[in-house]
Amino acid sequence: MSEIVITGSTGAIGRRAVRELRAAGHHPTGVTRPGTGRERLAGLGADAVQADVFDVASLSRAFAGADVVVNLLTRIPPADRMADPAAWAENDRVRTEASAAVARAARAAGVGRLVQESIAFVYADGGDAWLDEDAPVAGGGVTTTALTAERNARELFDGDTVVLRFGLFMGPDSGSTRAAVAAARRGASTALGPPGAYRPTIWLDDAAAAVAAAVAVPAGTYNVADTDPATNAEIDAALAAAVGVAALPPNPPREGPLARSQRVSSRRLREAGGWAPRLHAGTGTWARVVG
Ligand SMILES: NC(=O)c1ccc[n+]([C@@H]2O[C@H](COP(=O)([O-])OP(=O)(O)OC[C@H]3O[C@@H](n4cnc5c(N)ncnc54)[C@H](OP(=O)(O)O)[C@@H]3O)[C@@H](O)[C@H]2O)c1
Repeated sequence: MSEIVITGSTGAIGRRAVRELRAAGHHPTGVTRPGTGRERLAGLGADAVQADVFDVASLSRAFAGADVVVNLLTRIPPADRMADPAAWAENDRVRTEASAAVARAARAAGVGRLVQESIAFVYADGGDAWLDEDAPVAGGGVTTTALTAERNARELFDGDTVVLRFGLFMGPDSGSTRAAVAAARRGASTALGPPGAYRPTIWLDDAAAAVAAAVAVPAGTYNVADTDPATNAEIDAALAAAVGVAALPPNPPREGPLARSQRVSSRRLREAGGWAPRLHAGTGTWARVVG
């Protein structure tokens, strides 16, 4: 049983991570700010500790006695604001400043392990090739600060660092999933890349199970996505079938990290952590969320 303190514990993945960590026999405590976080965590069966996620002293008090700190802080804007760079400012601040404060505070508190959330869209376009964790990263756009958060976790913390590069979250409470379903009902695709490009996706419950696996795996970087990522064409065909439209015409190709082909391999985590996705998020979950 490990004492685990989680920043971002009330978000889409944080809530599920609390559940998975409890199920694995650990004792999770969520870092909250003033408001309703404490009650939400109590509803999940977790303890709460209040701290300012940008303040090292405040965080190091919250981390005292923890074996593991899990940083799941994000502030991804809603789908209808994603095209506006200004909407990403708070997320960028959380990824750059809060990730540094978390890493420094975990070090000051003598924590043994830091698990840092990142994203699989950091990789350069790989075409049809499989991309493991050693594949070249390109960052860019909204993924640049995810790489900053990774670097902060590796360089400012002195214990074991585990970086989890998640595919696109799929689930009933994922904003991008809801936006894709709404667009599909109008006959439109939200895919940014060409039809043949691979898109790493992960069902939110499976992403949370990966957080629990990260407590025990060797330190390092791990991709967390479908075992066999689907292409945009395959994802859109499954979505079209789920909403009952004939097809979703592809969009004109765009620029940016989410338009790249990223056939991400999660083999390293499957082999090191005994983790495996229970659902194929890209093609096997649309019927659940459409309902
Ligand atoms: N890989 C991916 O595809 C990916 C990754 C992350 C998020 N998303 C998507 O982004 C959307 C929003 O994510 P979300 O539901 O996880 O919630 P969120 O509102 O982005 O917040 C995530 C967590 O970070 C905390 N947080 C954010 N900014 C904070 C700050 N300044 N100070 C303290 N805590 C802060 C939140 O606490 P509070 O509850 O106190 O606000 C919450 O616990 C969802 O649709 C999700 O699926 C996707």
